Amino acid sequence: MIDTHFPLVDLHRHLDGNIRPQTILELGQQHGIELPGHDLDTLIPHISAVTKEPSLVAFLQKLDWGVKVLKDADSVYRVAYENVADLCQDGIDYAELRFSPGYMGHFNQLDNNLVVEAVIAGVEAGIKAFGVQAKLIGILSRSYGTENCQQELDAILSHRQHFVAVDLAGDEIGFPGHQFEQHFNQVHRNDLQVTIHAGEAAGPESIWHALQHLGAQRIGHGVNAAADHKLMEYLATRQIPLESCLTSNIQTTTVAGFKQHPIVDFVDAGMMITLNTDDPGVEFTTLSNEYHIAHQQVGLSQAQLAQIQRNGLQAAFLSDSERQALI
Ligand code: ADE
Ligand code: ZN
Repeated sequence: MIDTHFPLVDLHRHLDGNIRPQTILELGQQHGIELPGHDLDTLIPHISAVTKEPSLVAFLQKLDWGVKVLKDADSVYRVAYENVADLCQDGIDYAELRFSPGYMGHFNQLDNNLVVEAVIAGVEAGIKAFGVQAKLIGILSRSYGTENCQQELDAILSHRQHFVAVDLAGDEIGFPGHQFEQHFNQVHRNDLQVTIHAGEAAGPESIWHALQHLGAQRIGHGVNAAADHKLMEYLATRQIPLESCLTSNIQTTTVAGFKQHPIVDFVDAGMMITLNTDDPGVEFTTLSNEYHIAHQQVGLSQAQLAQIQRNGLQAAFLSDSERQALI
Protein backbone atom coordinates (compact mmCIF):
# COMPACT_ATOMS: atom_id res chain seq x y z
CA MET A 1 0.00 0.00 0.00
CA ILE A 2 2.82 2.34 0.88
CA ASP A 3 5.71 3.01 -1.47
CA THR A 4 8.64 2.37 0.83
CA HIS A 5 11.00 4.08 -1.64
CA PHE A 6 9.20 7.40 -1.25
CA PRO A 7 8.85 9.50 1.94
CA LEU A 8 5.75 8.80 4.02
CA VAL A 9 4.33 11.95 5.59
CA ASP A 10 1.54 12.75 8.04
CA LEU A 11 0.39 16.36 7.72
CA HIS A 12 -2.58 16.23 10.07
CA ARG A 13 -1.68 14.68 13.39
CA HIS A 14 -2.64 16.12 16.78
CA LEU A 15 0.10 15.63 19.33
CA ASP A 16 -2.53 16.13 22.05
CA GLY A 17 -4.70 13.50 20.35
CA ASN A 18 -1.92 10.94 20.55
CA ILE A 19 -1.10 10.38 24.20
CA ARG A 20 -0.33 6.74 24.98
CA PRO A 21 -2.79 5.00 27.33
CA GLN A 22 0.12 3.67 29.40
CA THR A 23 1.48 7.21 29.73
CA ILE A 24 -1.93 8.46 30.89
CA LEU A 25 -1.94 5.78 33.59
CA GLU A 26 1.62 6.55 34.71
CA LEU A 27 1.24 10.34 34.73
CA GLY A 28 -2.13 10.02 36.49
CA GLN A 29 -0.52 7.94 39.24
CA GLN A 30 2.54 10.18 39.46
CA HIS A 31 0.42 13.32 39.91
CA GLY A 32 -2.36 11.80 42.01
CA ILE A 33 -4.99 12.40 39.35
CA GLU A 34 -8.09 10.23 39.61
CA LEU A 35 -8.70 8.40 36.31
CA PRO A 36 -11.82 6.53 35.17
CA GLY A 37 -9.81 3.28 34.93
CA HIS A 38 -6.87 1.83 36.85
CA ASP A 39 -5.40 -0.36 34.12
CA LEU A 40 -5.39 -0.41 30.31
CA ASP A 41 -8.54 -2.53 30.03
CA THR A 42 -10.65 -0.25 32.18
CA LEU A 43 -9.11 3.04 30.97
CA ILE A 44 -9.21 2.47 27.22
CA PRO A 45 -13.02 2.65 26.79
CA HIS A 46 -12.88 6.19 28.23
CA ILE A 47 -10.10 7.44 25.97
CA SER A 48 -10.90 5.71 22.71
CA ALA A 49 -13.52 6.45 20.10
CA VAL A 50 -13.33 3.10 18.32
CA THR A 51 -17.10 3.04 18.30
CA LYS A 52 -18.73 6.09 16.69
CA GLU A 53 -19.29 9.07 18.92
CA PRO A 54 -22.60 10.93 18.53
CA SER A 55 -20.93 14.18 17.38
CA LEU A 56 -17.60 15.89 16.77
CA VAL A 57 -17.81 17.50 20.20
CA ALA A 58 -18.39 14.10 21.89
CA PHE A 59 -15.42 12.69 19.96
CA LEU A 60 -13.23 15.59 21.09
CA GLN A 61 -14.04 14.86 24.74
CA LYS A 62 -12.23 11.52 24.30
CA LEU A 63 -8.99 13.53 24.16
CA ASP A 64 -9.58 15.11 27.56
CA TRP A 65 -8.10 12.38 29.81
CA GLY A 66 -4.81 12.57 27.93
CA VAL A 67 -4.40 16.27 28.64
CA LYS A 68 -5.85 16.09 32.18
CA VAL A 69 -2.68 14.29 33.34
CA LEU A 70 -0.38 17.04 31.99
CA LYS A 71 0.42 18.51 35.37
CA ASP A 72 3.76 20.12 34.60
CA ALA A 73 6.38 20.82 31.91
CA ASP A 74 7.96 17.37 32.31
CA SER A 75 4.65 15.65 31.51
CA VAL A 76 4.23 17.77 28.38
CA TYR A 77 7.83 17.06 27.36
CA ARG A 78 7.30 13.32 27.77
CA VAL A 79 4.18 13.31 25.62
CA ALA A 80 5.89 15.35 22.90
CA TYR A 81 8.92 13.06 22.91
CA GLU A 82 6.76 9.92 22.72
CA ASN A 83 4.88 11.42 19.79
CA VAL A 84 8.11 11.46 17.80
CA ALA A 85 8.89 7.89 18.90
CA ASP A 86 5.45 6.91 17.57
CA LEU A 87 6.26 8.44 14.17
CA CYS A 88 9.33 6.26 13.98
CA GLN A 89 7.30 3.22 15.02
CA ASP A 90 4.77 3.89 12.24
CA GLY A 91 7.46 4.27 9.54
CA ILE A 92 6.70 7.96 9.01
CA ASP A 93 9.57 10.00 7.58
CA TYR A 94 8.15 13.47 8.16
CA ALA A 95 5.20 14.78 10.17
CA GLU A 96 3.65 18.10 10.98
CA LEU A 97 2.66 17.71 14.62
CA ARG A 98 -0.04 20.11 15.74
CA PHE A 99 -1.09 21.03 19.25
CA SER A 100 -3.17 23.55 21.14
CA PRO A 101 -1.19 25.09 24.02
CA GLY A 102 -4.37 26.36 25.67
CA TYR A 103 -6.08 22.97 25.55
CA MET A 104 -3.00 21.11 26.79
CA GLY A 105 -2.74 23.51 29.72
CA HIS A 106 -6.45 23.92 30.35
CA PHE A 107 -7.15 21.32 33.05
CA ASN A 108 -4.09 22.11 35.18
CA GLN A 109 -3.83 25.84 34.45
CA LEU A 110 -0.46 25.50 32.74
CA ASP A 111 0.83 28.67 31.13
CA ASN A 112 0.70 28.67 27.31
CA ASN A 113 4.39 29.54 27.04
CA LEU A 114 5.37 26.69 29.37
CA VAL A 115 3.41 24.24 27.19
CA VAL A 116 4.89 25.58 23.96
CA GLU A 117 8.45 25.41 25.31
CA ALA A 118 8.02 21.88 26.68
CA VAL A 119 6.58 20.65 23.37
CA ILE A 120 9.41 22.23 21.40
CA ALA A 121 12.01 20.65 23.71
CA GLY A 122 10.34 17.21 23.65
CA VAL A 123 9.97 17.16 19.87
CA GLU A 124 13.54 18.36 19.33
CA ALA A 125 14.86 15.64 21.63
CA GLY A 126 12.70 13.06 19.83
CA ILE A 127 14.00 14.14 16.43
CA LYS A 128 17.57 13.68 17.65
CA ALA A 129 16.83 10.31 19.24
CA PHE A 130 14.77 8.74 16.46
CA GLY A 131 16.08 10.37 13.28
CA VAL A 132 12.56 11.31 12.11
CA GLN A 133 11.75 14.76 10.76
CA ALA A 134 8.94 16.82 12.29
CA LYS A 135 7.70 20.40 12.31
CA LEU A 136 5.13 22.10 14.49
CA ILE A 137 1.73 23.62 13.76
CA GLY A 138 0.15 25.75 16.50
CA ILE A 139 -3.57 25.26 17.07
CA LEU A 140 -6.09 27.84 18.19
CA SER A 141 -8.85 25.91 20.00
CA ARG A 142 -12.01 27.64 18.82
CA SER A 143 -14.15 25.81 21.47
CA TYR A 144 -12.63 28.00 24.20
CA GLY A 145 -13.50 31.28 22.46
CA THR A 146 -11.73 34.16 20.81
CA GLU A 147 -9.91 35.55 23.85
CA ASN A 148 -8.35 32.19 24.68
CA CYS A 149 -7.32 31.81 21.03
CA GLN A 150 -5.59 35.19 21.16
CA GLN A 151 -3.58 34.03 24.17
CA GLU A 152 -2.63 30.83 22.34
CA LEU A 153 -1.60 32.86 19.32
CA ASP A 154 0.52 35.20 21.46
CA ALA A 155 2.44 32.20 22.86
CA ILE A 156 2.88 30.70 19.38
CA LEU A 157 4.14 34.00 17.97
CA SER A 158 6.55 34.40 20.89
CA HIS A 159 8.15 31.20 19.57
CA ARG A 160 7.54 32.02 15.92
CA GLN A 161 10.70 30.36 14.57
CA HIS A 162 9.62 26.95 15.88
CA PHE A 163 6.34 26.84 13.94
CA VAL A 164 5.50 26.42 10.26
CA ALA A 165 1.78 27.14 10.45
CA VAL A 166 -1.28 27.88 12.55
CA ASP A 167 -4.54 25.91 12.54
CA LEU A 168 -8.05 26.44 13.89
CA ALA A 169 -9.58 23.32 15.51
CA GLY A 170 -12.39 22.32 17.86
CA ASP A 171 -16.13 22.92 17.66
CA GLU A 172 -16.67 24.14 14.09
CA ILE A 173 -20.45 24.56 14.50
CA GLY A 174 -20.47 26.43 17.82
CA PHE A 175 -17.53 28.70 16.90
CA PRO A 176 -17.64 29.50 13.17
CA GLY A 177 -14.60 30.81 11.32
CA HIS A 178 -15.78 34.42 11.00
CA GLN A 179 -15.02 34.90 14.74
CA PHE A 180 -11.32 34.35 14.07
CA GLU A 181 -10.54 36.62 11.13
CA GLN A 182 -8.41 39.01 13.22
CA HIS A 183 -6.37 36.10 14.56
CA PHE A 184 -5.52 34.84 11.09
CA ASN A 185 -4.75 38.34 9.80
CA GLN A 186 -2.12 38.39 12.50
CA VAL A 187 -0.88 34.91 11.52
CA HIS A 188 -0.38 36.09 7.92
CA ARG A 189 1.36 39.27 9.05
CA ASN A 190 3.83 37.02 10.85
CA ASP A 191 4.44 35.02 7.71
CA LEU A 192 3.18 31.70 9.04
CA GLN A 193 1.19 29.36 6.84
CA VAL A 194 -2.42 28.48 7.53
CA THR A 195 -4.43 25.27 7.61
CA ILE A 196 -8.01 25.26 8.91
CA HIS A 197 -10.31 22.46 10.12
CA ALA A 198 -13.29 23.14 7.84
CA GLY A 199 -16.13 21.21 6.28
CA GLU A 200 -15.89 18.52 8.94
CA ALA A 201 -18.90 19.29 11.19
CA ALA A 202 -20.09 22.33 9.19
CA GLY A 203 -20.98 22.58 5.52
CA PRO A 204 -19.12 23.83 2.43
CA GLU A 205 -19.67 27.49 3.46
CA SER A 206 -17.16 26.89 6.26
CA ILE A 207 -14.54 25.81 3.68
CA TRP A 208 -15.26 28.83 1.45
CA HIS A 209 -14.82 31.06 4.48
CA ALA A 210 -11.54 29.41 5.47
CA LEU A 211 -10.20 29.93 1.94
CA GLN A 212 -11.48 33.43 1.31
CA HIS A 213 -11.36 35.06 4.75
CA LEU A 214 -8.82 33.10 6.80
CA GLY A 215 -6.36 32.58 3.95
CA ALA A 216 -6.19 28.81 4.36
CA GLN A 217 -3.50 27.18 2.22
CA ARG A 218 -4.69 23.70 3.19
CA ILE A 219 -7.99 22.40 4.53
CA GLY A 220 -8.29 19.92 7.40
CA HIS A 221 -10.84 17.23 6.46
CA GLY A 222 -12.95 19.27 3.98
CA VAL A 223 -15.31 16.29 3.69
CA ASN A 224 -18.38 18.46 3.14
CA ALA A 225 -16.92 19.95 -0.04
CA ALA A 226 -18.74 16.99 -1.56
CA ALA A 227 -21.99 18.95 -1.26
CA ASP A 228 -20.75 21.81 -3.48
CA HIS A 229 -19.46 21.02 -6.96
CA LYS A 230 -18.25 24.58 -7.55
CA LEU A 231 -16.10 24.27 -4.44
CA MET A 232 -14.69 20.92 -5.57
CA GLU A 233 -13.79 22.52 -8.89
CA TYR A 234 -12.21 25.49 -7.11
CA LEU A 235 -10.10 23.19 -4.90
CA ALA A 236 -9.09 21.05 -7.89
CA THR A 237 -8.18 23.99 -10.15
CA ARG A 238 -5.98 25.59 -7.52
CA GLN A 239 -4.68 22.25 -6.20
CA ILE A 240 -5.45 23.28 -2.62
CA PRO A 241 -4.54 20.25 -0.49
CA LEU A 242 -7.15 18.50 1.62
CA GLU A 243 -5.86 16.74 4.73
CA SER A 244 -8.11 13.66 4.72
CA CYS A 245 -8.39 11.46 7.82
CA LEU A 246 -10.60 8.44 7.10
CA THR A 247 -11.00 6.72 10.48
CA SER A 248 -11.49 10.04 12.22
CA ASN A 249 -14.31 10.94 9.83
CA ILE A 250 -16.17 7.76 10.73
CA GLN A 251 -15.63 8.09 14.47
CA THR A 252 -16.82 11.72 14.50
CA THR A 253 -19.89 10.67 12.41
CA THR A 254 -18.86 13.12 9.70
CA VAL A 255 -19.26 10.20 7.28
CA ALA A 256 -21.55 7.17 7.78
CA GLY A 257 -19.02 4.54 6.67
CA PHE A 258 -15.87 4.02 4.62
CA LYS A 259 -17.87 3.11 1.52
CA GLN A 260 -19.69 6.45 1.70
CA HIS A 261 -16.54 8.54 2.08
CA PRO A 262 -16.32 11.16 -0.71
CA ILE A 263 -12.54 10.78 -1.02
CA VAL A 264 -13.02 8.67 -4.16
CA ASP A 265 -15.03 11.49 -5.81
CA PHE A 266 -12.42 14.00 -4.70
CA VAL A 267 -9.63 11.99 -6.31
CA ASP A 268 -11.71 11.54 -9.49
CA ALA A 269 -12.30 15.31 -9.57
CA GLY A 270 -8.54 15.89 -9.61
CA MET A 271 -8.38 17.41 -6.13
CA MET A 272 -5.11 17.28 -4.20
CA ILE A 273 -5.80 14.68 -1.53
CA THR A 274 -3.45 13.68 1.25
CA LEU A 275 -3.92 10.88 3.79
CA ASN A 276 -3.35 11.48 7.50
CA THR A 277 -4.26 10.22 10.98
CA ASP A 278 -5.76 13.16 13.00
CA ASP A 279 -5.83 11.73 16.57
CA PRO A 280 -4.19 8.30 16.32
CA GLY A 281 -4.14 7.69 20.09
CA VAL A 282 -7.89 8.14 20.38
CA GLU A 283 -8.74 6.42 17.10
CA PHE A 284 -6.39 3.49 17.73
CA THR A 285 -5.06 3.79 14.20
CA THR A 286 -1.74 4.30 12.46
CA LEU A 287 -0.93 5.99 9.16
CA SER A 288 -0.09 2.62 7.61
CA ASN A 289 -3.53 1.41 8.68
CA GLU A 290 -5.16 4.46 7.05
CA TYR A 291 -3.49 3.58 3.72
CA HIS A 292 -4.70 0.03 4.19
CA ILE A 293 -8.28 1.16 4.79
CA ALA A 294 -8.12 3.52 1.81
CA HIS A 295 -7.31 0.53 -0.40
CA GLN A 296 -9.30 -2.32 1.16
CA GLN A 297 -12.40 -0.54 2.41
CA VAL A 298 -12.67 2.71 0.46
CA GLY A 299 -11.50 1.21 -2.84
CA LEU A 300 -8.69 3.55 -3.91
CA SER A 301 -6.29 1.83 -6.28
CA GLN A 302 -2.59 1.29 -5.70
CA ALA A 303 -1.79 3.98 -8.29
CA GLN A 304 -4.15 6.46 -6.62
CA LEU A 305 -2.52 5.76 -3.26
CA ALA A 306 0.93 6.30 -4.73
CA GLN A 307 -0.24 9.71 -5.97
CA ILE A 308 -1.73 10.49 -2.55
CA GLN A 309 1.57 9.62 -0.91
CA ARG A 310 3.35 11.98 -3.33
CA ASN A 311 0.77 14.70 -2.67
CA GLY A 312 1.65 14.50 1.03
CA LEU A 313 5.22 15.55 0.40
CA GLN A 314 4.14 18.19 -2.13
CA ALA A 315 1.59 19.70 0.31
CA ALA A 316 3.97 19.75 3.28
CA PHE A 317 4.88 23.15 4.70
CA LEU A 318 8.50 22.71 3.61
CA SER A 319 10.83 24.63 1.35
CA ASP A 320 11.78 22.93 -1.92
CA SER A 321 15.24 22.13 -0.58
CA GLU A 322 13.79 20.60 2.62
CA ARG A 323 11.42 18.54 0.47
CA GLN A 324 14.26 17.39 -1.74
CA ALA A 325 16.32 16.40 1.27
CA LEU A 326 13.62 13.92 2.33
CA ILE A 327 13.67 12.04 -0.97
N1 ADE B 1 -9.07 18.43 17.52
C1 ADE B 1 -8.62 17.18 17.52
N2 ADE B 1 -9.21 16.45 16.54
C2 ADE B 1 -10.08 17.29 15.92
C3 ADE B 1 -11.00 17.14 14.86
N3 ADE B 1 -11.16 15.97 14.21
N4 ADE B 1 -11.75 18.21 14.53
C4 ADE B 1 -11.62 19.38 15.17
N5 ADE B 1 -10.76 19.58 16.17
C5 ADE B 1 -9.99 18.54 16.55
ZN1 ZN C 1 -7.72 17.45 13.30
